[in-house]
Order: sequence, then C-alpha cells, then structure tokens
Amino acid sequence: MIRSVCLFLAALPLLAVHPCQSCHPAQVSAFARTPMGNAIAPAQPTAPGSFVHSPSQSRFESFTRDGRLWHRIERGSLSAEYPIDWQIGSGAHAAGYLVRIGEALFQSPAALYRDNHLWAAAPGYERHSRLDFDRRVTTQCLDCHSSGDAANPQPISCDQCHGNPAAHLARPSRANISNPSRLAPAARDSVCERCHLTGETRIGPLTIVYDRPRQDLRVVSHVEQLALSECARQSSGKLWCGSCHASHGPAINVTATCRSCHSSLSPAHPVSSQTCASCHMPRRPASDGGHSAFTDHRIQSRPTPASSAPAQLRVWRDAGSPFDRERALGLASIEIGERDGAPELIQNGYRRLAALIARLDRDPEVLSALGMVLFLKDQKADARKLLRTAVSLRPNDPSLREKLALIEKSLGDTSAAVTHLEQAVRLDPFSPRAWFLLADCQPNQRRAILSRFLRLAPQSLLAREALLSP
Ligand code: HEC
Ligand code: HEC
Ligand code: HEC
Ligand code: HEC
Ligand code: HEC
Ligand code: HEC
Ligand code: HEC
Repeated sequence: MIRSVCLFLAALPLLAVHPCQSCHPAQVSAFARTPMGNAIAPAQPTAPGSFVHSPSQSRFESFTRDGRLWHRIERGSLSAEYPIDWQIGSGAHAAGYLVRIGEALFQSPAALYRDNHLWAAAPGYERHSRLDFDRRVTTQCLDCHSSGDAANPQPISCDQCHGNPAAHLARPSRANISNPSRLAPAARDSVCERCHLTGETRIGPLTIVYDRPRQDLRVVSHVEQLALSECARQSSGKLWCGSCHASHGPAINVTATCRSCHSSLSPAHPVSSQTCASCHMPRRPASDGGHSAFTDHRIQSRPTPASSAPAQLRVWRDAGSPFDRERALGLASIEIGERDGAPELIQNGYRRLAALIARLDRDPEVLSALGMVLFLKDQKADARKLLRTAVSLRPNDPSLREKLALIEKSLGDTSAAVTHLEQAVRLDPFSPRAWFLLADCQPNQRRAILSRFLRLAPQSLLAREALLSP
C-alpha cells in the first residue's frame, strides 16, 4: 500500500496538467508542436555521427551510450567525452547542445544541421584552434530558448507572450490576460522583439542596431529586416510578425496577407504561379548560422546594391532618455569596435563616454570600458586607476577582477594580479580563462594551479594539454 502510494507520487510530475489545458486545449497542444515550443528539450539520442575539425586537428564524435546522447573530442593522445543534458533549438534548422560540468553549463562545440543531417562545428567554433567544451553558458541561450532558471530550464511558456496569468486563472476573462495582437503596435512588437531582436549588442534594456541594412543575413535579425521593408514603413504599424506567423496555428496563408494590401499589381509585374514570398522573401544562407538558410524579411522588389556610406549605430526605436542612449552608444561602440577590430569605433565610443564622465564616475561598466581602451592604448597606469574604482564599486564581479588582474600583471604587480584572480576563481570556479591567467602569473606554480582546475573539470583538454607541454 505505502509502496504503491510512493509510486503514484513519483509519477505525479509526469501527470502534471498544463494550467491552461482545461480551457484552451487547442492552443496548448498547438504551441507544443511548434519549433518555439521545442526550443529546448532534454537531449535525445540521435543517429551516430562524426567529423574532423581541421583548424584544431581534432576528431568529434556523437554517439549513444546507455540510452543517452554523448559527445566526444579526440586530439593527439587525449580525449574528452560527456553525456549531453540539453538540446537547444528544435532542429528545424539546427540543434546546439549543452553539457553540465560540475555546477556549470557549457556549450558543446558541435551542432547538428538539419538541411543535410550534418554534424559540424557550432556557430563561432568553425575556425577555433583549440576545440574543447569550454564555452560557458550562464543564461545566454536560456533567456530566449526556455523559461525557468539554468538549474531547471523549461520550455518557453505561455506567459512569455501573454504576461502573468494569475488574475486570469483566478477569474478567467478576456479582460485580464494580454493578447499581443490587440496591443498598440510598439507594445505588440516588443513581445516578439524580446527574443527575435538581438541587434549588434544589448546594453541593459536598450538594443543597439546599425541604421542601414547589413548585406549579410544573420540568424536572429527578422525584426530589423522587417522594419526596413517598405511594407512595414508605409503601412503605419499594420504589418507585424503576427500578420504572417501564428504562434499556435493554424498556419497563415502568406500570399493572402500580401494580397490584402497589394490587391492590384502594376501591369508590368511578372506573371507567375509562384507564391509572393518565393520571389520577394528568398531564402539565403545566414552569415552566423553555420550551415542553415534563412528567409529575407526585407521584402524587396529586387536586391539593393551595397551602400558605401559608413553605417552609424543607433538605439532601436530611440528608446530610453537621451542620456541613457548616449551611454549605451558609447559602451556599444567600444564593444563592437573590439569585436570587429574597428579602431575608429573604439575611439568614437571613448569620446562619447569621456564626455559624460562627470556623471558616470561611479558606473562600473563605463569605468571598465574606458579603462580597457586606455590599456589598449598603453596608458596602463590610468587604466589601472579606472579598473580599481570599478572593482571597489562591484567587488563580486569576477570579470572586472580578471580585467584588473591583466593590467596589474602588465604593470609588473604580479601579486596584486594573483589576489584578484584568486578572488575571480572563488567567485566563479568554472571560468577556464581565469585559471589560465592565474597559471600564467605564477609559472612555478603552474602545475598546482592547473591541477586545482582539473579537480573541477577533470576532462578539460586545454588544461591537460597545458600540463603536457613544458
Ligand atoms: C477555467 C478556464 C480558463 C483557464 C484555466 C485559462 N483560461 Fe484563458 N480564457 C478563458 C476564458 C473564459 C476566456 C475568454 C474567452 C472569450 O471571451 O472569448 C479566455 C481568454 C484567453 C485569451 C484571449 C484573450 C483575448 O484578448 O483574446 C488568452 C490569450 C488566454 N485566455 C490565455 C490563457 C492562458 C495563457 C492560460 C493559462 C495560464 C489560460 N488562459 C487559462 C478561460 C480560461
Ligand atoms: C521567449 C522567447 C521568444 C519569444 C517571446 C518569441 N519567440 Fe519566436 N522563437 C523563439 C525561439 C528560441 C525560436 C527558435 C525555435 C527553434 O528552436 O526552432 C523561435 C522561432 C520562431 C519562429 C520560427 C519557427 C516557427 O515556428 O515557424 C517564428 C515564426 C517565431 N518564432 C515567431 C514569433 C512571434 C510572431 C513572436 C511574437 C508573438 C515570437 N516568436 C516570440 C523565441 C521566442
Ligand atoms: C536573443 C535571443 C536568443 C539567444 C540569446 C539565443 N537564441 Fe538561439 N534562436 C533564437 C531565435 C529567435 C531563433 C529562431 C531564429 C530563426 O529560426 O531564424 C533561434 C534559433 C536557434 C537555433 C536553430 C533552431 C532551429 O530552428 O532549428 C539554434 C540551434 C539555436 N538558436 C541555438 C542557440 C544557442 C546554443 C544559444 C546560446 C549560445 C542561443 N541559441 C541563444 C533566439 C536566441
Ligand atoms: C510566442 C508567443 C506566444 C506564446 C508562447 C503563446 N501564445 Fe497564445 N497567442 C499569441 C498571439 C500572438 C495570439 C494572437 C493570435 C491572433 O489573434 O492573431 C495568441 C492568442 C491566444 C489565445 C486566443 C485565441 C487564439 O488562438 O487566437 C489563446 C487562448 C492563447 N493564445 C493561449 C495560449 C496558451 C495557453 C499558451 C501556452 C501553451 C500560449 N497561448 C502561448 C502568442 C503566443
Ligand atoms: C499591411 C500592408 C502590407 C502587407 C501585408 C504587405 N505589404 Fe508590401 N507594401 C506595402 C506598402 C504600403 C508598400 C509601399 C507602397 C507600394 O510600393 O505599394 C509596399 C511595398 C512593397 C514592395 C515594393 C518594395 C520596394 O522595394 O519598393 C514589394 C515588392 C512588396 N510590398 C511586396 C509584398 C509582399 C511579397 C508581401 C507579402 C509577403 C507584402 N508586400 C505584404 C504594404 C504591405
Ligand atoms: C509578410 C509576411 C511575413 C512577416 C510580416 C513576417 N514573416 Fe517571418 N517568415 C515569412 C515567410 C514567408 C517565412 C518562410 C516560410 C516559413 O518558414 O514560414 C518566414 C520565416 C520566419 C522564420 C523562420 C526562419 C527563417 O528565416 O526562415 C522566423 C524565425 C520568422 N519568420 C520570424 C519572424 C518575425 C520575428 C517577424 C516579425 C518581426 C516576422 N517573421 C514577420 C513571412 C513573414
Ligand atoms: C516570379 C517572381 C515574382 C513573384 C512570384 C511575385 N513578384 Fe512581385 N515583383 C517581382 C519583380 C521582379 C518585381 C520588380 C519589378 C520592377 O522593378 O520593375 C516585383 C515588384 C513587385 C512590387 C512593386 C512594384 C509593383 O508592381 O507594384 C510589388 C508590390 C510586388 N512585386 C508584390 C508582389 C505580390 C503581392 C506577389 C504575390 C501575389 C508578387 N509580387 C509575386 C517578382 C515577383
């Protein structure tokens, strides 16, 4: 009896009924079948596969053991293999994979590309010279692909588009739940923008974009592209994502949507039985999406030639106060300049922030960005001053400590560098970079430090290779 009660209780989570199921069964089951409803899932075994990653001279293999999916890298005499916890991405175009090492999540360096059932390097790992399971995932992927926290990620939930349902569940009515399609255009669009707009970077709540089309398509850029279309610009907020996409079926006939605004075409328009989208929204490979093709949402009549005018950064929808925008543009210019190797952008960002410094001299992010620019310009003592202030304002931020350590080390104060790095690995023991910096600072204790890291991540290829090399 007691035993069967226990079995029943153990089975309960599986029987848990979705809170919206009883009244909206169609929406619940339809959303669960969409790619968005499957943007994260516990990893399932797939057909075995492998590839050779030439830039790092490694061999990657994906296989099934004891009913679980495993990933393995072999390089030289070493190998590392982990069972995979999570699949990120429904697999409609591709799937990425996460492994848990100790208490931290890391991205597998390989992805499965659906178009040709191909295992290959995950985006960003294509030219990596030291393939390993070392790219830390704190919340990045999970913010958009799931709900819940990193310890227990759950699929994207209804409230991510409909808001908090508490009042609605207590006394269901149309009046106490948000329906995106009934919101004013800016609020409506912001529902999808939370995850479908990445821009060049995000600074706090502000998204930074270029003011003219980039010639290359990127995976998550549908929002920026649609905003550039004449259809969106000249229809005063009528056209939105939901004009062509149903979040929970039935699928929308896109040609009918086009026709609702373009009921008559000019006599010169080509006659064709193809869908409107096949000519005006072609599929093209994405520059950051590995081996996938994506749909061009600029809805052009013909491809536009590349503009030669330099693009300017701006804040999406001009959100925020003029002061917040200037701060964000300053930080973004430096970040994007460093990312793209563009010194004029870095200089531009530096000037913007320096002009505001009187109001920002207690702002750790700004101090650290300015400090790192000075460090690059070899003004190390000034850089140290700014980073020291930043660390004193935010002592528990391991990445600020790492930056300050780099500066202290280059100024010859190794013991200060070591102090900050010891703090950094205490605050975040799973950052391989901090451990390697720490080992660099103390050549005679290199083995001991790498061994401390290997106790946390025993299979780290990078750390074991470092131990093998003299
Ligand atoms: C006990 C029944 C019940 C439950 C449970 C319930 N709803 Fe509803 N829901 C309703 C009713 C009744 C309406 C109003 C229908 C109408 O007026 O056409 C509604 C309407 C809606 C609408 C449409 C609003 C609009 O403006 O068109 C949305 C969206 C919605 N519910 C979402 C949810 C979500 C999400 C959940 C789960 C968190 C949920 N509901 C749970 C009964 C329920
Ligand atoms: C919580 C984040 C999030 C929000 C909010 C969100 N999306 Fe998505 N969406 C995703 C992710 C992640 C994917 C990729 C799914 C996968 O893994 O294939 C996706 C995929 C899609 C796709 C392509 C796959 C398909 O189902 O055809 C469309 C279209 C889409 N979303 C439309 C929308 C629209 C319209 C809105 C606003 C009403 C919206 N999304 C809001 C995260 C989100
Ligand atoms: C800002 C939100 C956001 C973040 C952060 C994000 N994604 Fe996505 N991701 C999306 C959206 C939206 C799509 C759907 C885009 C599309 O289909 O064109 C997507 C699509 C994908 C796909 C293709 C899914 C398919 O359709 O088959 C994969 C794989 C993927 N993401 C993996 C990742 C991984 C791994 C991370 C973390 C390193 C990550 N994503 C971070 C929003 C995000
Ligand atoms: C990615 C965003 C998104 C998610 C997630 C989402 N919905 Fe919706 N939902 C919408 C949009 C957009 C509409 C408005 C559709 C329209 O009328 O164009 C809508 C409409 C509805 C409606 C009104 C009836 C209808 O179908 O038009 C209900 C009920 C509803 N959603 C329930 C749910 C439930 C329950 C869930 C979770 C299982 C959910 N939704 C998840 C975006 C979403
Ligand atoms: C909400 C109304 C609306 C919808 C829906 C819509 N458009 Fe448009 N579109 C416009 C307006 C307004 C213009 C600008 C005036 C014009 O050229 O007719 C435009 C312009 C265009 C242009 C000319 C662009 C250029 O480069 O000058 C093309 C091509 C086009 N639309 C194709 C489409 C296609 C294909 C679809 C469906 C996938 C579509 N439109 C859906 C309103 C819409
Ligand atoms: C005028 C129609 C139209 C509008 C508006 C529209 N889309 Fe699409 N979208 C399409 C078509 C057509 C496809 C390709 C066929 C498909 O996958 O349904 C597509 C595909 C997608 C995909 C799948 C990946 C890809 O690139 O093929 C995503 C994600 C997506 N759209 C997101 C959005 C978001 C977010 C918005 C709002 C900013 C939006 N779409 C607005 C027509 C539209
Ligand atoms: C076979 C490819 C093809 C198909 C299919 C197609 N178009 Fe076009 N469309 C073009 C080309 C090419 C142009 C540019 C003509 C020019 O610049 O002289 C164009 C121009 C346009 C324009 C701007 C000029 C004008 O004629 O008003 C609109 C709007 C438009 N198309 C809408 C549509 C709609 C709506 C559909 C679906 C019913 C559609 N197109 C289907 C190739 C196509």
